[in-house]
Amino acid sequence: MGLILKKKLKYKIGKNPVIREPTIIYPDNIIGDNFQTGHFVVIRQNNKIGNNVSIGIHSDVAFNVIIEDNVRIHSKCFIPEFSIIKKNAWLGPNVVFTNDKYPGSREGKSNLKGPIIGEYAKIGANSTILPRVKIGKYALIGAGTVVVKDVPDYAIVVGNPGKIVGDIRDLKKFDILD
Ligand SMILES: CC(C)(COP(=O)(O)OP(=O)(O)OC[C@H]1O[C@@H](n2cnc3c(N)ncnc32)[C@H](O)[C@@H]1OP(=O)(O)O)[C@@H](O)C(=O)NCCC(=O)NCCS
Repeated sequence: MGLILKKKLKYKIGKNPVIREPTIIYPDNIIGDNFQTGHFVVIRQNNKIGNNVSIGIHSDVAFNVIIEDNVRIHSKCFIPEFSIIKKNAWLGPNVVFTNDKYPGSREGKSNLKGPIIGEYAKIGANSTILPRVKIGKYALIGAGTVVVKDVPDYAIVVGNPGKIVGDIRDLKKFDILD
């Protein structure tokens, strides 16, 4: 028997998309202009994706995710449901977000909530961000960090568990790009 759709699905991709094969985009997504995906990207349903967003090879976006304008997501990232990535944030390769603190528990399943990544924050390669964590604007998460609690604006955080080791405004070699 075929699939019976009970509600009207919203589906929109803006101007000038570059969708590299084989990308799979489920119905019920609202996506802005200049959207780009690398090969083998999967985007499930009911996401809101802004303008000028790019999502790299083998990345996996679940559902009920908000990705704002100018966000760049590198290769092999995992963005589970109820995650929010604010404008101009940047994710390095193999970044993993989580949304269920106690996997397999009924409590966890009914309270899924991913991280909130602040504007212009940068997440280094192979980092893991625990559920509900808020990463402040312009924060810089070092490679391989496990972020277990909220990160203030501009903080540099490294290690497992992630600890604040500095402030990017003191990092002379780092220009804050607008
Ligand atoms: C966090 C980061 C910005 C720090 O850069 P920095 O301020 O120049 O720091 P330094 O290289 O001078 O290292 C300072 C100290 O932090 C440690 N450190 C640096 N990066 C670290 C990291 N990611 N995790 C744990 N420790 C780290 C160094 O070992 C050093 O320790 P020590 O003082 O005991 O010797 C950088 O190392 C980093 O991880 N950048 C992200 C890279 C990335 O993922 N890019 C993605 C694009 S592919």
